[in-house]
Amino acid sequence: LKGTIHYNNRSGVRATCPDCHVPHNWTDKIVRKMQASKEVWGKVFGTMNTREKFLEKRLELAQHEWHRLKSNNSLECRNCHSAESMDFNRQSPRAQAMHSKFLITREKTCIDCHKGIAHKLPDM
Ligand code: HEC
Ligand code: HEC
Ligand code: HEC
Repeated sequence: LKGTIHYNNRSGVRATCPDCHVPHNWTDKIVRKMQASKEVWGKVFGTMNTREKFLEKRLELAQHEWHRLKSNNSLECRNCHSAESMDFNRQSPRAQAMHSKFLITREKTCIDCHKGIAHKLPDM
């Protein structure tokens, strides 16, 4: 995370772990925490207590997050970023083209195109 724009940027807004991983909504939060207690706290119970075991499980954990963000329309991203507030004229031509073609038409959501924005991607 530390090497990415979500940690350090000209705006001084930092995204921390819970901003992306813990839902704000209470019921979602509790459900997620129960799932997380199997994952993050897997460490406590010894299933993921070494880096090697983490790396082994990493793709699966990432897939859970992709699935979660896909099914909530990238809600945690949208807590900070709003498509409506984007000034496409100030975005790179590539971003502009993709956002106007697929984002505002709701054909795709943030996580469809922006995987690996805060971490190195798992070995795929
Ligand atoms: C806590 C607020 C916050 C959250 C949550 C957040 N972001 Fe960001 N994001 C930012 C800020 C701040 C920047 C940097 C803006 C700047 O100064 O240019 C940024 C930058 C980006 C960039 C630009 C990368 C670049 O190299 O210019 C992308 C893409 C992005 N975010 C996608 C996402 C996605 C996808 C999610 C959800 C998984 C997400 N963000 C969640 C605040 C957030
Ligand atoms: C259809 C694919 C697609 C979707 C959906 C999408 N993006 Fe992007 N986005 C891109 C591409 C491609 C770029 C340019 C990346 C590059 O050139 O490195 C980009 C760039 C950005 C940038 C940097 C702006 C710039 O000028 O490069 C931000 C911030 C960003 N996206 C945020 C988001 C957020 C937040 C969402 C969801 C609300 C989202 N994007 C949805 C493809 C997408
Ligand atoms: C800007 C959003 C964002 C922030 C901040 C963020 N993550 Fe993530 N995280 C993701 C996304 C998206 C994935 C899904 C995999 C991917 O695309 O990289 C993920 C995946 C993960 C995974 C699954 C395994 C893996 O490596 O992919 C773990 C564990 C994780 N994050 C922990 C953390 C921790 C701990 C922090 C704080 C130090 C953090 N994340 C901060 C967005 C974020």
